[in-house]
Amino acid sequence: MASSKEKIAGTMEFPPPTPQPNVYPLSWENVTMKLQEVWEASQREYWDPEKLPWDTFDVSKYTWEQRESIAYWWTLLSVFDASAPPVFASALIKTYEMHEEDVVRRCFFSVTRDEQNHEQMCGLAITKLLEHPDPLTYEPKTDIGRRLQKNTKWLYYNGGRYWEGFKNAVPKYSLAVLFSSFLMGEIAAATIFHQMSAGCSELVFKEGFKKIGMDEGRHMAIVLTLMERDYPKLAQEDKEVITKQIRAGYLFLSAVLFEPPMEFWDIPEDFIENQREGEKYAREAGFFIPEYEDKKRELEKKLCLT
Ligand SMILES: [Fe+2]
Ligand SMILES: [Fe+2]
Repeated sequence: MASSKEKIAGTMEFPPPTPQPNVYPLSWENVTMKLQEVWEASQREYWDPEKLPWDTFDVSKYTWEQRESIAYWWTLLSVFDASAPPVFASALIKTYEMHEEDVVRRCFFSVTRDEQNHEQMCGLAITKLLEHPDPLTYEPKTDIGRRLQKNTKWLYYNGGRYWEGFKNAVPKYSLAVLFSSFLMGEIAAATIFHQMSAGCSELVFKEGFKKIGMDEGRHMAIVLTLMERDYPKLAQEDKEVITKQIRAGYLFLSAVLFEPPMEFWDIPEDFIENQREGEKYAREAGFFIPEYEDKKRELEKKLCLT
């Protein structure tokens, strides 16, 4: 739709060129065919969190300490998974503005859709465990529940700060630079969910983690394929930004991968202690969370990767 009210169609045969970047391409060009396979897999592997075997999940067999601790872990995850849909949705818009290949647009659409599923999964688990749909307004029933809710409030506060930074970066940087901030997230996510699926005793969590792990594996493939395509052409200043972005992404994710580092996360003194105690209750209830030493080993492996 033309923004000026004045009609011009009667004065010329063809319209003037549309100013760029224009939000929609009228083009379905595909070059990076490796991504076609990822897209097809995303269509095949699509799942619905509501259709998981929730009827087998009997929360009454857990103590309130265990319920609040497992719900805390899902809350920790949802700090990432509830911010992923808007993050990837804005990257999706960017693929349209940049007139990216058709298959790249489809892949970013699939990631946005998958992340929305992960968020739903977190919401379903939390609501069942707490019998309340919101961990911030929930009234804790135990001492550990109260301390974990304090952690939740600080996680929420920190997650909000990250979004502001990302929003400012989107118009400034190319997709190649923006991908780099997703990289750590996708690699980390793909490994942790497979481990959790293998280790959890509750069927609905096992199934959910398996599906989430599969989704994250595809997201990692998308990010890596685009890096292969774009990184050889990068300018030196972009390379420096990318190094910083990978590190920032890693520090952000470390809250779920390992433990939030104090220099990046603004959290109170007792945060780590509360989280460790919550993890103890969750593990004792058969909810698999990698142990401190295993997390540390994973962390060291990831650092070698970058
Ligand atoms: Fe996710
Ligand atoms: Fe993801």
